[in-house]
Parts: sequence; structure tokens; C-alpha cells
Amino acid sequence: MRLRSGRRQKADDRTEAAPAATPGLAVELRGVRRRYGRGASAVHALAGVELGLPHGTFTAVMGPSGSGKSTFLQCAAGLDRPTAGTVRLGGTEITGMSENELTELRRSRLGFVFQAFNLLPSLTVEQNVLLPMRLAGQRQDRGRAAEVLAQVGLADKARRRPGELSGGQQQRVAVARALVTGPDVIFADEPTGALDTGTAAEVLGLLRDAVDTLGATVVMVTHDPAAAAWADRVLFLADGAFADRLERGSAERIAARMTALTGRTRTMDGAGAAA
Ligand SMILES: Nc1ncnc2c1ncn2[C@@H]1O[C@H](COP(=O)(O)OP(=O)(O)OP(=O)(O)O)[C@@H](O)[C@H]1O
Ligand SMILES: [Mg+2]
Repeated sequence: MRLRSGRRQKADDRTEAAPAATPGLAVELRGVRRRYGRGASAVHALAGVELGLPHGTFTAVMGPSGSGKSTFLQCAAGLDRPTAGTVRLGGTEITGMSENELTELRRSRLGFVFQAFNLLPSLTVEQNVLLPMRLAGQRQDRGRAAEVLAQVGLADKARRRPGELSGGQQQRVAVARALVTGPDVIFADEPTGALDTGTAAEVLGLLRDAVDTLGATVVMVTHDPAAAAWADRVLFLADGAFADRLERGSAERIAARMTALTGRTRTMDGAGAAA
């Protein structure tokens, strides 16, 4: 038998191991574990994650392949349920929510950007941007769509379909869609993984702007040290727990830290970017 929340774990650097929410945090994970399978074949994808991300910050998460990055993002965003521990978004504990409550929360308070853009090809750019409002049963505010499309530099593309746009433009539509509801947190999983360097920089600049001018909170998983350098801090995952962090690191420093981390763990991944 075990306590549900890891509140007896050693105090983290906030000395705030109490079960109450920590004020000012957009994302808070305490004692989060995620196990796949049981018994001898069980995989501990997350092995006790402690994390608090303040509102209005941009965080990159890096780590070798299999270190738990996607599992972390899924648990933090309410797309997957931890085996143990608590997740809070904007002070609200999501761990005990029903599927319907989680769906509603994701639609109204979270934004998502994925590597594969995930736009609906039969809808126009404007309709794609308005989709989160439509799914949430809200009034589809075309003025708001125009506003976020202007923010990502695509004011003139509202009536096009995704297939008529370049990859970078499609990802900018995905960023506009993530911004449209004014979410508390934007989760991005390899948002520049399918883009060339120049186009990637445009998309990263938009995420940076969302933090700096709109006060959004961004959490981004990436393999690319140059992408991670746009963030305020980089957190390094190894074997299911955060092993290291770097504040305002350059791409070179981030790459060096990744190489050191990869050398200590079983798998090789992402180290090529250190060149
Ligand atoms: N559905 C699943 N069933 C069983 N094991 C899983 C499942 N999903 C992930 N795992 C395991 O959990 C661990 C963490 O996986 P995860 O996908 O979070 O890693 P990652 O850091 O995102 O890797 P990558 O960089 O390759 O995307 C791995 O050992 C993986 O094999
Ligand atoms: Mg992954």
C-alpha cells in the first residue's frame, strides 16, 4: 500500500512538499509516476517527477530517446493518467478528473502544437483556427480568428486550405489554433521536427512572443538544442526523472549538456545535434 501523492518525498527546492497548490504555478507535478505493464516486464516511464513551472515562462524538455519526454507531456496535459502523484494546471488538480472534465479542460484552457501540424485538410485555415471554440461549444469568433492569424503573419490566408500552404505556414496555423482560446498552457511536442532551420525559427519566435507579449506558458519537448535555446530554461529528462536543468543556455551549452547526459544513459539519441 502506498500514499497516493508522494508528499513524504524529500522536499524539492521550493520546500513546498505540502499537498496544497503552489501559487503562481501554471504547471505543477508532484511525485508523478507512470508505469506501463506489470511485474517483471513493467516499464517505469516516469519515476517520480517533481516540477513547478511559473506562469508566463517558456520551458524546453530534452532527453535521450525513451527517457519519458512524450509520457511526461501527455501526463502534464491530461492526455494520459499517471500511475501515482498529482498534476495541477493553473492550480486545478486534474488527476482525479473524469474523461469529460479533462476533455473540457483541454479544449478551453490548453493549446497543443504537434510535429505533424494535425490540421484538418478539408477545413479552411480560419475554420481550423476556430476548431477549439467549435469543439468547446463556444461562439466561433471570427474577429478572434483574424486576430491570431495576424499574430502569426497569416492574415491573408484565412480562406486557404492547409494543403495550399508550406509546412512552416501550416505550423503557424497550428500555433494560431493553439492561441485562439487564450490558453493557460501551450504544450508543444517537437513543433519544429518537420521544419527546416529558417522556418523552425519563425515558429519558435511565435511561441516566444506568446510568452513575452501574451503571458502564455509554453512547455516544449524537442531534440534540437537550437530550438531549446529559445526557451527560458531547459529541463533534462533521464530514465523517467528530471536529472539536470539549464537557465538561458545557448544552443552550444545545451548540446554539450545533452551529450554529457546521453553518455550517462543507455541510449544514443539527439547527440548528433551537438555537432
Ligand atoms: N504505451 C506504452 N506501452 C509500454 N511502454 C511504453 C508505452 N509508451 C512508452 N513506453 C515506454 O516508456 C518509456 C518512455 O517512453 P517515451 O515515449 O515517453 O519516451 P521519449 O523520451 O518520448 O522518447 P522519444 O525521444 O524516442 O520520443 C520507453 O521505455 C518506452 O518504451
Ligand atoms: Mg517521444
